[in-house]
This record gives sequence, C-alpha cells and structure tokens, in this order.
Amino acid sequence: MRTIKFGIIGCGAISYNHADAINVIDNAKLIACSDVNKEALGVFSKKYDIVGYGDVENMLNNKEIDVICICTPSGLHAKFAVMAANHKKHIIIEKPMALTVKQCDEIIVASEKNNIKVEVICQNRFKNTFRFVKSIIEEGKLGKIVSADIYMKYYRSPEYYATSNWKGTWAMDGGGALMNQGIHGVDIMLFMIGNVKSVFGHAKTLARDIEVEDTASAIVEYENGAIGVIQGTTSVSPGYPRKVEINGTNGSITLIEGNISIWDVPNVKQPESQSESSKSFKDPMGFTIEGHVMQITDMVEAIIDNKAPYVDQYEGKKAVELITAIYESSNKRELITL
Ligand SMILES: NC(=O)c1ccc[n+]([C@@H]2O[C@H](COP(=O)([O-])OP(=O)(O)OC[C@H]3O[C@@H](n4cnc5c(N)ncnc54)[C@H](O)[C@@H]3O)[C@@H](O)[C@H]2O)c1
Repeated sequence: MRTIKFGIIGCGAISYNHADAINVIDNAKLIACSDVNKEALGVFSKKYDIVGYGDVENMLNNKEIDVICICTPSGLHAKFAVMAANHKKHIIIEKPMALTVKQCDEIIVASEKNNIKVEVICQNRFKNTFRFVKSIIEEGKLGKIVSADIYMKYYRSPEYYATSNWKGTWAMDGGGALMNQGIHGVDIMLFMIGNVKSVFGHAKTLARDIEVEDTASAIVEYENGAIGVIQGTTSVSPGYPRKVEINGTNGSITLIEGNISIWDVPNVKQPESQSESSKSFKDPMGFTIEGHVMQITDMVEAIIDNKAPYVDQYEGKKAVELITAIYESSNKRELITL
C-alpha cells in the first residue's frame, strides 16, 4: 500500500500531536519539519528522527513530501498554505484556517489552481456523538429547531498569554476567546445546526492584558430559522466544560463537551458510546491525539481514494466567516448578514 509522506511547518505545542498522530497511522510517515526557531526545530527533528529545515521553502522543494501540516501561529496559515499549494503539496491546516475570509479565499484559489486537497483541523467533527446529534436533527427527530446555544466559559491564565509571542495579538491570533479557543465550538454548531444567516455580536477585553477579546457573546440566526447564543470567554475561574443546548418543537438535547447530559428525543435511544472528554476548557493542551489521528487518516484516505477530505477548505472557512462577522458586528454595533 502507498505510504503518504508528511512535513510539518512549525515545531511548537500542537506539532507534537500531529507527529504522534502521523506515527500511529499505518500508511503515513513523517519525514521532515521546519521552524525559524532553531531550538524548537532541533528538539523536534531529533525526537522524531526526521530532517529539520530552517527554511520552509527548502522543505517545500523536497519532492518526497505529499502533505504539509501547517502548525504555525494562525496569522501565518494563509501564507504557508498558499506556498505549499503552489509547490503542489496537499495541506492540513490547524484551526483557524486563516484569520480573515479574504485569506481563506486566497487558500481556496491556490488549492483549486494547483488541484491539491485541503483539510482544516476541526477534530470535533470526527466525534460520534456530534455526528449522531447532527443526523437526529437532519432526520427531524427534534421537530423544528427553535433554539441552539453554545457556552464556552474557559480559563486561560495571564501567563498563557504573557509567555507567547503571538497569542492574544490581532496580527497572529486574529481574535481571542472565539477565534482561538472557541472556534471548535463554533465549528460544531455550524456542523450540527447548519449555516448562519445573520449575527449580532458583542466582544470585549475584560480581564486579560491582550489586544483581542477575552469575552464575547453573539445572537445568531441559523438558516433553518433557529435563534441561538454563542458565548465564549477565556477569563473565568475555574473554567467550565463547553455546554451545548439544542431545543426543538419535539425534543431537546444538551451536551457537555462531547457527552450527552440531557436526551429528550422521543423514540430514539440515547447513544451508548460517548466521546472522551476534553479538558481544554482550562488546560490549553488538555486533549488526546485521537481527533488528529482520525483527521489525518481522513486526509490519507482522501489522497489514496482521490476524494474530498471530510473538513475541506470550503467547510473550514465557515467558522472564520462567522467569527469575523461577530467581530464586525461588535465593532459597528449592527446586525451583520452573512
Ligand atoms: N486543534 C487544536 O485543538 C489546537 C490546539 C492548539 C493549537 N492549535 C493551533 O495550532 C497553531 C499553533 O499553535 P501552538 O500552540 O502549537 O503554537 P506554538 O507557539 O507552540 O508553536 C508555533 C511554532 O511555529 C513556529 N514558527 C513561527 N513563525 C514561523 C515561521 N515563519 N516559519 C516556521 N515556523 C514558525 C514557532 O517558532 C513555534 O515553534 C495555531 O494556529 C493554533 O490555533 C490548534
């Protein structure tokens, strides 16, 4: 069987999840990495016994590499994604896909021009519980969805921001409680409930010494007519697991992280298998590699079977579009239509 070969740009925290995930997939092999930080590059390339490049362009010229994982600060995702696409590499981009809709569109144009595949890391979409809830909604088992809310009351310490040279900045993080920490929740709402029609948002920096918002609330109207709340903060103690409430005319479901806590769905048994619980509401790296393994496996299969990845560039763009619309609404103090 063909082995798909990987290179990683960025040798920081999340890169280890990518490397460990690639290493447990039978027909995937990590062969190279690149970072501008010599120490990070040295430690990472030694740990995984791979070639380390100080210059990204040199790694992209390595003809053996099929897929590039982009694990740099978010503000560099678009630049490296376009570069990798122009070198005919398939790409896996960490969340957020990019910081603006314009940057997402640049990636889309480059990927279409070069006919390469793009997968945006949205690991929650691979959890059985969210997929089951999505199917329940689509089959109409909850009736008409009236209200769909997500609450992400997280904790990130002042040191978390102070020790990073990019987190909390507009240029490299592109946003805070929603664009960085909350994007996974925003993405699963779009996945389960559907696209958003309009949004009214309010975002503020209340308790952390950062440029971007540490607290935001938005009222959204979904295309199916449901109205919902999207709430995110990184400044509450001690921080709480993500909560999702979905209420319809015939039934309701509440989820805490990936687990069902209320299941009022007529004639449908609550699913037994429940996803592992993430601790990332209070610990930035408090989650396992399981989601990355599934998503990188999906890319390997997409290449071998020549099909679209499960979370492609068009899906990855949606959360960026919604979050930037919330920021725009907050700045202009007006309803934004997507
Ligand atoms: N999927 C998830 O759950 C998850 C979790 C954490 C982080 N992330 C995402 O992963 C990305 C990286 O986050 P992190 O916490 O690993 O950051 P980090 O700061 O730990 O690592 C970033 C690395 O990129 C390197 N880098 C910076 N500029 C570069 C350049 N020009 N060329 C090459 N390398 C460069 C840095 O030296 C550093 O080693 C972010 O986009 C973040 O949103 C996703």
